[in-house]
Amino acid sequence: MKELRVNAGKGYNIYIENNILSKAGRYIREVSGAEKACIVSDTNVYPLYADALKTQLEENGFNVYDFVFTAGEESKTADTVLEIVALLAENEFTRGDILIALGGGVTGDMCGFAAAIYLRGIEYIQLPTSLLSQVDSSVGGKTAVDLPQGKNLCGAFHQPALVLIDTKTLDTLPQKYFSDGMAEAIKMGCIKSASLFEKIEKGSARDIIEDIIFECVSLKAGVVERDEKEKGERALLNFGHTAGHAIEKLHSFKGITHGEAVGIGMVMITKAAEGNGLCERGTAERIASVLKKYNLKTEDENSVEDIINAMSADKKRTSSGINFILIKRIGEGYINPVKNENIPEFFGI
Ligand code: GLY
Repeated sequence: MKELRVNAGKGYNIYIENNILSKAGRYIREVSGAEKACIVSDTNVYPLYADALKTQLEENGFNVYDFVFTAGEESKTADTVLEIVALLAENEFTRGDILIALGGGVTGDMCGFAAAIYLRGIEYIQLPTSLLSQVDSSVGGKTAVDLPQGKNLCGAFHQPALVLIDTKTLDTLPQKYFSDGMAEAIKMGCIKSASLFEKIEKGSARDIIEDIIFECVSLKAGVVERDEKEKGERALLNFGHTAGHAIEKLHSFKGITHGEAVGIGMVMITKAAEGNGLCERGTAERIASVLKKYNLKTEDENSVEDIINAMSADKKRTSSGINFILIKRIGEGYINPVKNENIPEFFGI
């Protein structure tokens, strides 16, 4: 088992182990005196793991409730979160009770947001079952729902009380979603760790997945501890995401995974950085090769012009331009503001 502590919020532990689900009740009881626990999960993950988790929770004295929603980003709405909090209110959950996010990024984001707003904040546990949520979204306390105007526009920073990463859940994860998570691991290597990038580039990630997850969450924990509310350094975690979100939007969030879009975004922004003399030559090509190795895309059918236009709702935008995240070389991310009028030229159009 691997473990680490994140000193953000009240501070919390992350445990990473194959089949940690079979001991989850004990770990959750260690951090919570709750009488009631509500499992939040989706229609894909609930049938696979909820029974085992319920048994664990009941054996450790929790009175267990559940909320199951239709799997998919379409469910990540304020309406679904209000349904969760209504269920908590109907069942008289108090501030001492807890929520447990059992699932991927959508589940964690919504469960965390419900926990942030119910009674002005109760505790929640992250039990991420997708690679993307294990390497990234379950750590750091970003919670949100989507609005018709854009992704994650309504949310709160609310740190979990515990993160339990069970690598066995990756056995049931379709290959496409393993690749999805690999894009975020590659991103972490690009911005923070050349050695992590090389490990992913040279080896087979599946064989060393516990190490990769540990390195990703350790690096992320450091960033979150230094900049919990994204006033500076945390923005580096958005490498590839400005173009990535624009690409997802152009595809109406269908037929392309978040990781695929972020991968394309990383290549696009790095090519632009190279073109402007802001990144070591050959870096975009190196990122593209590693993305291909994990069956990720490196370009999109939409034109660069259309992608730039679709960046307008980006959260990294200021009134005068966009704070693009670039890398100088593999392992070294930085923020580079570009004025609105210079954006097309920055991308070479
Ligand atoms: N996923 C990016 C962040 O947590 O800041």
